[in-house]
Parts: sequence; C-alpha cells; structure tokens
Amino acid sequence: MSGRILRRLLLPLVLLLPLGASAETDPETGFEIGPGWETVKNTCTACHSAKLVTQNSGSRNRWVYIIRWMQETQGLWPLPPETEDTILDYLVEHYGPKEGARRAPLPPTMMPKNPYKQEAGGSSG
Ligand code: HEC
Repeated sequence: MSGRILRRLLLPLVLLLPLGASAETDPETGFEIGPGWETVKNTCTACHSAKLVTQNSGSRNRWVYIIRWMQETQGLWPLPPETEDTILDYLVEHYGPKEGARRAPLPPTMMPKNPYKQEAGGSSG
C-alpha cells in the first residue's frame, strides 16, 4: 500500500532528473552532448583520454593549431574537410575561449604614459 504511494511519488522525480542537468554529457567520455559530439568521440579518443580534450579550451584557431600539431608530430591522420569542420564547430561551441580567462584591462591611472599619444585628433585611446 505505502510502497505504491511511494512509487507514485518517486517515478515522476526519476523521469525529470535528466532534464535538470544543465549540460548533458556522455557518461563514458565526459563530452558534452551536441551536434558532432560522436564524430569527436570517435576521432579524438583513439590516442588519449577525452579529458585531454575537455580540459582544454580555445578559439577555432587554437583548435586548428592543436590538430595541425598532432598531425605533424603525433601521427594524427589527415581529416576530411567536412569531418574537421564538424569537429571544430563542436569544439568551439562546447570548449571555446573561456569567458574571463583574461584579466580585466588596467585602469588608465595604472597605465604608463603613452609616448605615442597625440594631443590633436581628439581620440583618447
Ligand atoms: C594519432 C593519435 C591522436 C589522435 C587521434 C588525437 N590526438 Fe590529441 N594528442 C595526441 C598526443 C600524442 C598528444 C600529447 C599527449 C601528451 O602530451 O601526453 C595529444 C595532445 C592533445 C591535446 C593537448 C595539447 C596540449 O596543448 O597539451 C589536445 C587538446 C588534443 N590532443 C586534442 C585532440 C583532439 C581534439 C583530437 C581529435 C580531433 C585528438 N586530440 C586526436 C595524439 C592524438
């Protein structure tokens, strides 16, 4: 009797749990689930842990650089352009440049005097 009531209460909760997670991740690799993630999983875990990928972040240029570096020095095979695009789109979307990774700019009062600053012209940059 009470078991049935309990199940009635718990079942909806269990069904709702996956919706509560902010970013769904692949339990096996930790990759965030999104367009292209399976291509990345298939291509990028052949030699090393997915963690090496998920712990990195960067712009598209940085990811291209890392891929070229692996191709030139680590034996990563040439990727067909569509595959590479899929991978880069995914990486930039999910492991893109970190917000706030750079410190805020110094206030003008803490900057050295700019020797190139011109009086005329108006721009104070
Ligand atoms: C052919 C093997 C191979 C494949 C496939 C491969 N990598 Fe790598 N990768 C390496 C090796 C070797 C290293 C260096 C590991 C180390 O330093 O311990 C590395 C290092 C890295 C690093 C760390 C770079 C750094 O700056 O420290 C990242 C990020 C990375 N790989 C991402 C990827 C991504 C994304 C893919 C899929 C496109 C991929 N790897 C596929 C071999 C590979």
